[in-house]
Amino acid sequence: MDKIVIEHLNLKYSDGTESLKNVSMNIKANAITVLFGPSGGGKSSFLRVLNRLNDLADVTELSGKVLIDGQDILSEEMDVNALRRKVGMVFSRPTALPLSIYDNVAYGLVMAGMKNKKKLDEAVEMALRQSVLWDEVKDRLKDPGAALSGGQQQRVSMARVLALQPEIILLDEPTSALDPLATAKIEELLQELKATFTIVIAPHNTQQAARISEMAAFFLQGELVEYAPADVMFTVPKDSRTQDYITGRFG
Ligand SMILES: Nc1ncnc2c1ncn2[C@@H]1O[C@H](COP(=O)(O)OP(=O)(O)OP(=O)(O)O)[C@@H](O)[C@H]1O
Ligand SMILES: [Mg+2]
Repeated sequence: MDKIVIEHLNLKYSDGTESLKNVSMNIKANAITVLFGPSGGGKSSFLRVLNRLNDLADVTELSGKVLIDGQDILSEEMDVNALRRKVGMVFSRPTALPLSIYDNVAYGLVMAGMKNKKKLDEAVEMALRQSVLWDEVKDRLKDPGAALSGGQQQRVSMARVLALQPEIILLDEPTSALDPLATAKIEELLQELKATFTIVIAPHNTQQAARISEMAAFFLQGELVEYAPADVMFTVPKDSRTQDYITGRFG
């Protein structure tokens, strides 16, 4: 089933950069879709469109359609707060807030007005279990989040997003600040999460893209050059530009 349908998406920043050019693609539910390609290709811009984070950027032109569950999220009627609950974003740097581990995870829920302690406890535990961190932190939930390792902090960031029970999770290079072991844990975690969520990720590098993806989209200078199942994309890509990139001829 297609969770997200994108039609003729164009995005231009006020300095004239056309960071997305006529991009059309469908994104499947309960799968990991990766966006990969050289720096400046438009991956982050694309992710930001999906939860309207570009509203905050210097965008002069945004056209086309982005349908999530059939609803056009670019329309003026779209409730952006509701959208951001449904579409959570995890950024590349682990972001532990200067709060306890518990409060780091409960943060979004408290902001959304949840006060019931028992419900909060349950939501925090569930999110920490889903991000495979519960066993490591359950006895020290009151410790500062900043005292955790980088990999644990990144899972706390994931738990903060998961606590809001989104349907779609966007991740922009979530392992770029992590060591190989912590990276492997996050990759494993993504494989578990895809049963429940729709995942769209700009991975740290092409090797990671090939390891984790089911569908892969190659972005080059704002253009979606090729979009295919990962086993095709990373073995027999159709476009010579994709071929050149994955065989390391540029990028
Ligand atoms: N806020 C902004 N204002 C102006 N131009 C921007 C802005 N954000 C991105 N761009 C430009 O848009 C293009 C696409 O950038 P984007 O960050 O989406 O690429 P990317 O594929 O995520 O690159 P990277 O792999 O380096 O993260 C680039 O030319 C970039 O300079
Ligand atoms: Mg980026």
